Amino acid sequence: MRQALDIDRLAGVYARLARRYDWQHRLITAAADERGRRIVVEATVREGDQVLDAGAGTGATGLMAARKAGMSGHVTLFDLSDDMLAVARDKAAREGLLDRLTFSTGDMVRLPFSDESFDVVLSTYSLCPLYDPEAGARELYRVARPGGRIGCAHSAEPRTTVARWLAGKLENVAWRFPWLSMGCRGVHVLPALERAGGRVRFVSLIGVPLWPFEVFVVEKPRDSTASRR
Ligand SMILES: C[S@@+](CC[C@H](N)C(=O)[O-])C[C@H]1O[C@@H](n2cnc3c(N)ncnc32)[C@H](O)[C@@H]1O
Repeated sequence: MRQALDIDRLAGVYARLARRYDWQHRLITAAADERGRRIVVEATVREGDQVLDAGAGTGATGLMAARKAGMSGHVTLFDLSDDMLAVARDKAAREGLLDRLTFSTGDMVRLPFSDESFDVVLSTYSLCPLYDPEAGARELYRVARPGGRIGCAHSAEPRTTVARWLAGKLENVAWRFPWLSMGCRGVHVLPALERAGGRVRFVSLIGVPLWPFEVFVVEKPRDSTASRR
């Protein structure tokens, strides 16, 4: 796996990118990003849920979750970048969703939430830029309540050798321009969640062959304890 961008550099990249992030990410992913978000929100969020969107960015997934969780639900949007969250806040204000949301900044590899705080924990395209994606995934698991659901979408390795070779060449070019790569690379975190005790509800690969996304939902068993790693 490619070495992650330094966290301060990453924060700077997203600060500069924030206002154009939505359309740029949509363009680069040929709109598969939105499909991944929809799949995880549809499969995890129910009316009244307490939801965490970790690495929420401009709120594309968090706002979708807030609409689905309804008036009795609540969504916490957590991100490294205040600038990305500012865009999310503007969008939420326009939609009249602000009273169902909390905004919080920090590092999702060390989430500032107690064990078992949320019914649903989401991460769409935010595990891929992390310096330690497995530790980030374990944090998602820790803060989910027993019986809760963890829904993720992230960049993954292409399936075939040829596609992996070609994608590697393209990635080499993209990584010279962090505003283009956004610090994202293919990661593989599902085994870490399974080792923590999570049960895989479904997993699928979507997106374009050279830049696929792994989309999955893991359930935290009701009899699990948060201390299990
Ligand atoms: C590719 S964007 C994804 C944003 C959003 N979830 C979406 O679906 O579009 C990655 C996000 O992860 C955030 N991020 C990167 N490293 C982070 C970290 N260590 N802790 C919290 N957020 C982080 C970035 O600031 C950025 O908003």
